[in-house]
Amino acid sequence: MTNPTLLATIAGFKQEYDREPAGVWSAPGRVNLIGEHTDYNEGFVFPFAINRRTYAAVAPRQDNMICVASSFSKETFQIAISDIHQDEKNGWAAYPFGVAYAVAKLSGKPQTQGFDIFIDSDVPVGAGLSSSAAIECAVGLALNELWNAGLDKKALAKAGQLGENEIVGAPTGIMDQTASLFGELDHAVFLDCRSLEAKAIELGFADAGLELLIIDTKVAHRLVDGGYAARRAACESGAEALGAASLRDLSQADLTRAEEILDPVTLRRVRHVITENSRVEETVATLKAKGPRAIGELLYASHESMRDDFEISIDELDTAVETALRHGAIGARMTGGGFGGAAIALTPIEKISEVTLSVLAEFEALGYAKPEIFAVSAAPGAKREL
Ligand code: GLA
Repeated sequence: MTNPTLLATIAGFKQEYDREPAGVWSAPGRVNLIGEHTDYNEGFVFPFAINRRTYAAVAPRQDNMICVASSFSKETFQIAISDIHQDEKNGWAAYPFGVAYAVAKLSGKPQTQGFDIFIDSDVPVGAGLSSSAAIECAVGLALNELWNAGLDKKALAKAGQLGENEIVGAPTGIMDQTASLFGELDHAVFLDCRSLEAKAIELGFADAGLELLIIDTKVAHRLVDGGYAARRAACESGAEALGAASLRDLSQADLTRAEEILDPVTLRRVRHVITENSRVEETVATLKAKGPRAIGELLYASHESMRDDFEISIDELDTAVETALRHGAIGARMTGGGFGGAAIALTPIEKISEVTLSVLAEFEALGYAKPEIFAVSAAPGAKREL
């Protein structure tokens, strides 16, 4: 039990609540290798759980209150389970409250047992690495067990999404929670967001002499702002205009028809999702057949599509991607919801320092905030620690 964040979580719980936790559960953040804004279109995604985790120490209370405290904010929050609703006053506690609401709802029985929860995390916040899904999955797993709610991992992923949609108020898909729950060491999760069938696919980065760098631009993205919801609405109206239940049901062959019917903006949104779905399938096939050194062009094609068609990139992300590629990265793209957050750069080990130093220098020259650059690897999904 040497993990410092785990130890800090237990210490934080004891200090806050003056007693021992009943257990500690953890869940990782995730990075998406490819497949962006395809999840809520019932398409394909290919993320992996990363070696940065959120820990939740939990103990039952005598009443029906959910109490939340954390190492990253002095504020504490509490609410009666039956009273959980969308409210700005919830602050970041909307994530644990949301998942408590959703686990109770999906369990099909009224839950009245309250809990004290203390959270600590080394997942960077606002970087597009799903610090929020990590909270939801760690707390969701804990409550599922302590309430005896009987949800399996698919249902827990849905609980995270439901809490985020209804209590946080962000119309997000199911990718982040699935990656956090189904992640495996050295594997990414190829998820069909319609059937929720999740397949672990070996990445083989280390054997190929590669590392995945995260370039966190420090431009915080927020999924409750209008851009994400506007993209989702455009996808839904595009699908409807083309007579499809969702964009998942369309292929590149439908694009000619789309060009005739759709307005230029909706056409671009639809084209991103249709081509991105093909890129995810091609990435998985290429990875299996030829290994990770062969997927670079697909990563960059995804970035171009997000920049030009989905229009969710920003100058800092474009600079990170172009600079990394110029200095030896095999492939690079922005990752996550967009409008800020991080880019990824799949980089040969011998090029890591050149890519890192060049991106830092370029950001400084352009007067951007200093980015944070670090490697991540594919780690196991959510689990009980103690
Ligand atoms: C955010 C959402 C996900 C997904 C991505 C974009 O991370 O939470 O559901 O839509 O954006 O791919």
